[in-house]
Amino acid sequence: MAIERTFSILKPDATRRNLTGAINARFESAGLRIVAQRRIRMTQAQAMKFYEIHKDRPFYGELVSFMTSGPVVVQVLEGENAVARNREIMGATNPQNAAPGTIRKDFAESIEANSVHGSDSLENAATEIGLFFDESDIVG
Ligand code: CMP
Repeated sequence: MAIERTFSILKPDATRRNLTGAINARFESAGLRIVAQRRIRMTQAQAMKFYEIHKDRPFYGELVSFMTSGPVVVQVLEGENAVARNREIMGATNPQNAAPGTIRKDFAESIEANSVHGSDSLENAATEIGLFFDESDIVG
């Protein structure tokens, strides 16, 4: 299996409840290494661009306003099969459908305030990482 990098966000509902460490512990104990990490307040322009793929969905406006409502932690996670591994650890987008023991099952408040984002493909991971990090920010 290949060593991959994936992009992760700890969302405002997670930072508000001081869950950064608890969620990072899930990544690390699953073998994912946090090779870049920054706590930021996303601008409206950043959130709109990041979620551009959802711009025609009815929840787009609400999502942009949620993602700019408080601090987020943007991260690069590295490890074997990191994209799929992270998606397993996160669980389904809707916490009601998330498997027991996943981050979203244990921490998410709703389908929108679902605590974490993770890239859904290796290609999107590279694009998303590039929106927030330079190669020199990533220390493997
Ligand atoms: P994320 O994995 O970051 O990708 C898109 C986000 O849109 C999703 O997590 C949720 O935070 C948010 N969202 C809000 N409503 C919905 C919905 N009905 N379906 C999917 N995603 C939603």
